[in-house]
Parts: sequence; C-alpha cells; structure tokens
Amino acid sequence: MPSTSSDWRSSVAYQIYPRSFADSNGDGIGDIPGITAHLDHLQALGIEIVWLSPVYDSPNDDNGYDIRDYRSIMKEFGTMADFDAMLAGMRQRGIRLMMDLVVNHTSDEHAWFQQARSSRDNPYHDYYIWRDPVEGREPTNWEAAFNGSAWTFNEATGEYYLHMFSKKQPDLNWENPKVRQEVYDLMHFWLKKGVGGFRMDVINMISKPWQTTANATQASLPDAPKVQEGFLQPAFEMVTHGPRFMSFMREMRREVLDHYDCITVGEAPCATIAQAQEITDPQTGALNMVFQFEHMEVDSQPGKSKWDLKPLHLPDLKTSLSRWQTGLHGQGWNSLYWCNHDQPRAVSRFGDEGPYRVRSAKLLATCLHMMQGTPFIYQGEELGMTNVKWPHIDQYQDIETRNMFQVAVVQKKQHPERVMQSIHAKGRDNARTPMQWSSAPQAGFTTGQPWLAVHDNYTEVNAAQARDDDHSIFHHYRQLIALRKKWPVMVSGNFELLLPKHASLFAYTRRLGDVCLLVLCNFSNQFQGLPLKQLPDFSQAQALIGNLPVEEWPLAPDTLAAWEARVYVLA
Ligand code: GLC
Ligand code: CA
Repeated sequence: MPSTSSDWRSSVAYQIYPRSFADSNGDGIGDIPGITAHLDHLQALGIEIVWLSPVYDSPNDDNGYDIRDYRSIMKEFGTMADFDAMLAGMRQRGIRLMMDLVVNHTSDEHAWFQQARSSRDNPYHDYYIWRDPVEGREPTNWEAAFNGSAWTFNEATGEYYLHMFSKKQPDLNWENPKVRQEVYDLMHFWLKKGVGGFRMDVINMISKPWQTTANATQASLPDAPKVQEGFLQPAFEMVTHGPRFMSFMREMRREVLDHYDCITVGEAPCATIAQAQEITDPQTGALNMVFQFEHMEVDSQPGKSKWDLKPLHLPDLKTSLSRWQTGLHGQGWNSLYWCNHDQPRAVSRFGDEGPYRVRSAKLLATCLHMMQGTPFIYQGEELGMTNVKWPHIDQYQDIETRNMFQVAVVQKKQHPERVMQSIHAKGRDNARTPMQWSSAPQAGFTTGQPWLAVHDNYTEVNAAQARDDDHSIFHHYRQLIALRKKWPVMVSGNFELLLPKHASLFAYTRRLGDVCLLVLCNFSNQFQGLPLKQLPDFSQAQALIGNLPVEEWPLAPDTLAAWEARVYVLA
C-alpha cells in the first residue's frame, strides 16, 4: 500500500484554494503566509490532512492549474521560505500536506513546451502530443473542457497540439519515458521536503488510447460520438482510464509512492466503480482513493453538460452514493465530498440557503461524514458559505464560466438570462469567493481589494461568529470529526441504504460487529413522518449526534423536522 501510516482512514481532509483563503499583504490575493496565519482554524476543527490547490509558478490562465515551473512558488503566493514555514506549521499541528499534482498537462509557458513547439526535431517535442492537420483542419472533433477545439495549431511546426483544457494547458505525452521520469523527479522533490502526499489532477486522463499503436504518430484518431449540434463533441470519455493508465500508475507507485509514507487521491472524471476499484485496490492498485464524479451529475440532464440544469431528485443522489459505498467496501477506499473549487456551494446546491441554511448545512455534513471514506471539507463549507448570484458576466473571473457564456450567448444565441441561471447554479466562482473570516470589511480576507468579490452575507456568515457560537455549523463539523476518532464503525462499518425510493428521506445504517448506527436525514423543507415499519427499531437507541437538540428527539420519535438529521446507536 502506498500509505503505510496507521490511521489516516480516520482522518478528515480540508481543501484550501489559496487564492481565496487569506491575504496577508493587502494585494487582494490569498497567499501562503495567509494560510500559515490561519492554521489554528484547521486545528480547532480537527483537520489532519490538507489538500492545497496549486501554489506553483503559473501564468494563471486557470488559477494555477497551468504550471510553468513545478519547483517554484507562484510569486503572488510568496516564497519557498514561506512555503517551508507553512509546512512546518502544519506538521507541528499533526496536519499532513497533500500537494496538487497537475501532470496531465503543463502551462504553454513551461520551458518544456517552449522548446517543444519550436521545431519537430527539438528534444522536447515528444513531451507533448502532436498531430498533422487532417484535410486542413483539426485532427478530431474533440471539444476542450473550456470550450473550443481540444487542438490548437502551432505555426512553427505546422502541427496541432492536444489540450483537453484551455489552449494554455497542453497535454503531456506520458508514452514518453522521459516525461514520466520528470514527473517522478518532481514528486521526489516535494516528498523529500516533507509533504504528506498528492491530490492528482485529472490523473485518469494521462493515457491517450490511440497512442498504444506501434506507429502512434501515423495512426488516425477516433472522433468522439456526436451528442450535440455542430462539429465539436465532448471528448473526456475518449481519454479517461486509457489502456496504459494503470501501468503508468503502478510504475509511479514503484518509482515514488512506495518509498514514502504518503496519502494519495486521484481526481478521476468519468470513473466507474470498477475502475475506482482497480485504482485503489490495496494490493494491485496505486492510489489510496479517487474523486469520482457520479453524484455531481445528478442535477444536470443526462448526457448533456453540467450547465443543462435539472432539479435534484433525491433518490438519484442516494442511489449513486450508495452504489459507491457498497462497491468499494472492502475493495478500495472512497473519498467523500459535496463540493470543491470546481463545484457550487454545497448548501446552495443540496440544502437550503434560505431559512434552513444552518440546519441543512449540518444535515449535509452529518449525511456525508457518517458514510465510509475520507471526507473532504472545502474551505467555507464549515461555515455554510453560499453561492453568489451576480447578475453580470463581467463580475466572474473563471475561464470555464466566461468561455461558456461567450459560446452560449454569442455563438449559440441562447438567452443571456438563462445562461446566467446556469452560472448561478453551477459556476466555479461560487466556491472561489474569498473565505469569510470575520465581519470586518472584506470579511477579514484582505485589507485591500479582493481579486474576486466577497459574498455580501459575510457579516452574518463568518468564521469568528462560527467559532464563538456553540451551535454553529463549524462546531457541528468539529463534533463529527471527533466522533470519527471514537467510533470505528464510522470508519469501517458496512453501509446499507434504507428507503431507497423515498423522495425526501436519506436513511442508512453502518454496521461493524455488534455496533450499528442508524442515520436519518430529511432533505426537505417539510417535516416528514418516518415509515417505522421499514426502519430498524430505534425506540431504545442512544442518540449520537443530530442538528436539533438531542433532548427534544423523544418528543417526536416518529417524525423529522425540516432538514433534521439524527444519528442513533442501535441497542
Ligand atoms: C481539475 C481541476 C480544475 C482544473 C482542471 C484542469 O479538474 O480541479 O480546477 O481546471 O483540472 O487542470
Ligand atoms: Ca496576498
């Protein structure tokens, strides 16, 4: 197993998006000293793992997910000395730092790409993926994640290069052993510094299918199936979990991961349960866990993009999450998440951001943390931060959002107001507004002008308030994290979904030996009667945690109030 450390399975992780976490010098951009200054917040919560989104040198076409130099720190974020101080501060507090490893692609400003694009016989040319034009145009119909073709023409060589994301993020050619060696070297560099592992960006996209053929450069490439109007078609499924993916990952494990005590999570778009099992199998796999996306798709129209909204139908969410619970039980390991820097705010999406904001945020926390796997809390989730609904596209910074708006409104002639509705529901900037530390100006995030506006609810929703209020969302998370340490059933128990078809109740049990937890969550604004005959008898059960006062539970033994969550220990 890559991670040998005893009990990381009972740890909870916290994701920091550095640009939006805390600004120490008033330039409006979150930075590393800002993180160091707030480590007590994480410690108070009980966090033992931090996933830090990229802090490497980058031209910031995609906020650091386009790396120019893997061994230096982005100037806006600080220096390597600042980094070392932050790492030391984390280690002192028993927190492991998971770096973001973005190696499916680099920035087009990386020295390798600068060399590679200069001529066909440059030694770095084969670090990237090139194709001649086909009939004078792009070699395939693949659409990049941030709109437009996944191929961009390079004048100097007369070829197209592949980029599954923006044209400033060319995909690396993992078939080239030198590329793999470069990646392993940079991993050693960070691990030797004392980082505790990696979150691996879109890692299941590194093996491109056609390249396994002997004369790869000649082979013609498959087009993606047509699912939308026009030439370009979504192409992620063409490149995920490719034929050499597992062998690359096992090589990485042998060359790097096995030599350190580290924790790994691979971001794996389109991953199936079978693929996740293969990746996380303790004997033959390579990583500890993956971020899968299935439950992030329940509120969009099947087969369409994330922007094609569909109201959430709770049974879909339950079916998906429980399939992953049972599918990986005893096989691999789940990560658990409601949100991250690419997703809208959890309470706005799955809970109620209005009158039941606090209660529904606690319900979401309870529902997720009682499942098997490692929970990842995204900064501000522990405060119940909500989506923004800015009316104008110019108020948004995210490349994905801005490009989508452009294509939808200008090319596809969609109504701007409808497009803004999608952005309000799904745009990534919802998660990227500055962390709300206090009711001071700019939420205490900066003394200057923040790079992205602060949500205007910060006087009410902020960390200072939350830490002082025993009944806050923050303290509920803290309790859940502490319970995980005391109750092995939360870590290892098996999972059984109850009432699978119920439209408002999410109910399940976790069982380990004689201990059984019953989790009951009401995902609705109305109270719900409990169908007692279809639930285990909990009349004698002990209350473990809930989001309404435990003393009041016996007053309503067979109903749950709006957005109420309860966990019982069955006798
Ligand atoms: C991942 C990151 C996302 C980024 C993309 C390209 O999905 O989480 O933020 O835009 O990869 O690196
Ligand atoms: Ca700063």
